[in-house]
Amino acid sequence: MEAPVGAQMGPILIEGQRVGLCPLDRSLMPLIMWWANDPLTIELDGDEFSPMPLERLEALWAPLLSGERAGWAGFSIWLLAEKRPVGLLNLRDFLTPHRTAEFGITIGNPEDRGRGYGTEATRLALRWAFDMLGVHNVWLDTSSANPAAIRAYEKAGFREIGRVREARVMGGRRHDIVLMDCLASEFRWDAPDARLP
Ligand SMILES: CC(C)(COP(=O)(O)OP(=O)(O)OC[C@H]1O[C@@H](n2cnc3c(N)ncnc32)[C@H](O)[C@@H]1OP(=O)(O)O)[C@@H](O)C(=O)NCCC(=O)NCCS
Repeated sequence: MEAPVGAQMGPILIEGQRVGLCPLDRSLMPLIMWWANDPLTIELDGDEFSPMPLERLEALWAPLLSGERAGWAGFSIWLLAEKRPVGLLNLRDFLTPHRTAEFGITIGNPEDRGRGYGTEATRLALRWAFDMLGVHNVWLDTSSANPAAIRAYEKAGFREIGRVREARVMGGRRHDIVLMDCLASEFRWDAPDARLP
């Protein structure tokens, strides 16, 4: 996948060894459109694929970029050395009295997966959630047919807490929804943010 050029790197809000999290901005939209038009990526994200024109994507993202959606914090994931965006992540629904947040992440280009970026970015997101947002529990769901995601989440500090059995269809077959969470009190602050290159 040949990524469009032109995305501008904003200030680095939190950085690890190889990746940093930056604010989202509209210069990322052409790149996000490429990622959003990959059926496998969308299926792994747990969504139903349909072709996504740039205009529709911009309309969907407008309330997020403008800050209209309360309790939603989105970030772009950048390779620090190359100053290149490789993905997106978000923490959401954290403005409740219970101080929990749901987490989601995508490393957009399949060629950038399996290199440790997702694990490191996930750890940065957990640090942000616990340190900056004062969240106590970060949780997520994924598919049992997505072992790379489960492995990355475990390495970052999540653990499986249960399953909704045979509740997700992927590739024409039923799979479990895997629920995972990480508590602020269990997070290993001293663990490295990534395996060394
Ligand atoms: C899930 C995702 C964010 C993980 O990020 P990543 O950068 O690829 O993950 P990492 O490289 O940090 O870690 C992946 C781990 O899974 C392992 N893995 C990869 N494929 C695997 C497989 N089929 N079975 C078991 N483990 C696998 C890798 O070896 C690595 O573990 P290791 O470091 O112990 O060797 C990324 O792959 C992605 O965006 N995928 C597409 C969209 C998606 O699935 N989003 C999440 C929806 S919940």
